[in-house]
Amino acid sequence: VYIHSIRVSFSSFSLLHLCSVSGQCEPVCAQGCVNGTCVSPGVCQCHFGFVGDNCSSQCHCNKHSNCKGVSEPDKCLECKNNTMGDHCEKCKPLYVGSAVGGGTCRPCREFCRGNSAVCLSRDEHKRALDHPQDHPLDPDSVSDSLSILVHLCVLSILL
Ligand SMILES: *[C@@H]1O[C@H](CO)[C@@H](O)[C@H](O)[C@H]1NC(C)=O
Ligand SMILES: *[C@@H]1O[C@H](CO)[C@@H](O)[C@H](O)[C@H]1NC(C)=O
Ligand SMILES: *[C@@H]1O[C@H](CO)[C@@H](O)[C@H](O)[C@H]1NC(C)=O
Repeated sequence: VYIHSIRVSFSSFSLLHLCSVSGQCEPVCAQGCVNGTCVSPGVCQCHFGFVGDNCSSQCHCNKHSNCKGVSEPDKCLECKNNTMGDHCEKCKPLYVGSAVGGGTCRPCREFCRGNSAVCLSRDEHKRALDHPQDHPLDPDSVSDSLSILVHLCVLSILL
């Protein structure tokens, strides 16, 4: 009985792992890990933004978040890369660029070559000048997302 049980566990181990002559063993994921890594037999660890048994499904989060699962690719869990929005489609306040399709959101300060921490689209700038109470321009209160490509750097003299 003892020998029999050793034989069974050995053969199931060898089904689940691939071992080289030197004795290095790697787990086998029979389903494949398309955008991920096989971490234990049958289990893929998916790359950022991918889900599924074989990690072949991409989340609908513009490549900036993981999502709940294959059945809920629109449920983005946490937007990274300075993005926000239901699908991480917008840049965070004080960041500029286009988040869509894996795009980059750069800090306004970098975009403005260090001259300003705040950058706004022309429309946002006009709104801010027309209604200063509703659209304050100091960095601590800027809450709109700055997702439009044409931006003005708001110089400190305007603040
Ligand atoms: C996902 O996997 C496909 C197929 O192997 C590959 O072409 C693609 O570049 C991968 N994408 C990422 C973001 O790794
Ligand atoms: C990954 O899994 C999905 C869903 O089970 C399947 O439709 C697809 O063909 C698989 N892709 C590969 C490359 O094995
Ligand atoms: C976005 O953030 C993820 C997680 O932190 C990171 O793996 C990925 O490289 C980032 N993408 C870009 C374009 O910086």
